[in-house]
Amino acid sequence: MTQQLKIGKHIVRYPLIQGGMGARISAGRLAGHIARCGGVGLVAAAGIALNSGLYDGKNFFQAEIEAFKAELRKAYEIAPDGIIGVNVMVALSDYAPLVKAAIEGGAKVIVCGAGLPMGLPELTADHPDVALVPIVSSLRAAQLIVRKWQKAYHRLPDAVVVEDPDTAGGHLGEKMENIGIGEYDQYATIRSIKAFFRDECGADVPVIAAGGIWDRADVEHALAEGADGVQMASRFVCTEECDAEDGFKQFYIDCTKEDIGLLMSPAGLPGRAILKNIDNIRQYDLDHHTTCRMGCLKKCSYKESGERFCIVTALDRAQRGDVDTGLVFCGTNAWKADRITTVQAIFDELFGDIPGK
Ligand SMILES: Cc1cc2nc3c(=O)[nH]c(=O)nc-3n(C[C@H](O)[C@H](O)[C@H](O)COP(=O)(O)O)c2cc1C
Repeated sequence: MTQQLKIGKHIVRYPLIQGGMGARISAGRLAGHIARCGGVGLVAAAGIALNSGLYDGKNFFQAEIEAFKAELRKAYEIAPDGIIGVNVMVALSDYAPLVKAAIEGGAKVIVCGAGLPMGLPELTADHPDVALVPIVSSLRAAQLIVRKWQKAYHRLPDAVVVEDPDTAGGHLGEKMENIGIGEYDQYATIRSIKAFFRDECGADVPVIAAGGIWDRADVEHALAEGADGVQMASRFVCTEECDAEDGFKQFYIDCTKEDIGLLMSPAGLPGRAILKNIDNIRQYDLDHHTTCRMGCLKKCSYKESGERFCIVTALDRAQRGDVDTGLVFCGTNAWKADRITTVQAIFDELFGDIPGK
């Protein structure tokens, strides 16, 4: 499979973006190795300071910026010529400073989800070569972003990621009651967004499929159905290079299909995770009288009223391997993980030559 992907001025050898995974699941090591293998590697901004050694309990926002840049440096050490970018959630309190830090750290691609990045081109105006990639789940969301960007900034996205709420991991861009009811059509959405760019903007903008893509057949299916590339996250968790501790990876290996489900995040969005330990997540905060210390999200029910749980600390516990009380996000296919492998082995499986073909 030799199809390349062009995102802005960047030519990616294989049509694959590694999905951003917050709280140091995708930090510099994973992103660097993905880029070295010929995909786009993303350092996720959310909670990057936790478990970095830079957060002292008081300096969260400053430490986020420093840790973010340090992880970008680490990624470039691994893949000096690679296509390395970032994932910054629009819902983060320090979204704008993190976008600026990404640019200072040399990110070539900025992917933004968990909200619509309506003002992103303004934040990056002095750096037109940095590719801007919104994540959406509907044609309507793509239209809202594109119309605003065209009118206010005379700019189009360099690509769009279409995340399937029925399969993707982490926060989802759809109402809880609409998820998993068989209404959503990932590839119809992709084709309608491609057609919108063509008909209304006269542009061929790459549209990338995300959610539930696991093996070579899934990648080939996505491309055959009209996607220009894929974004994959869960598949890369059980690699030696993934930045999570071993306990997090083992939780993927040990989980079954039935363990994976939906929860309501304090961010006000549904999320997909391994639910085996769900009762312990809230109980941890009750037992430890956890209060919101970081204010990491613009809107958060835990920050505002103590409802649900503190998400960034729950994700951080999981990243450190405490899967008893930590929150382990994953896509619907995470149960397929059966061993720890390497990023290169996954690329070989997805894109390598098939003997005899
Ligand atoms: C552990 C984990 C953490 C995630 N964190 C983020 C995040 O910080 N920001 C974001 O936009 N998406 C996040 N996602 C979503 C992924 O980037 C990706 O789009 C999605 O999981 C794709 O589905 P897949 O995991 O089935 O490949 C996360 C997903 C997982 C599994």
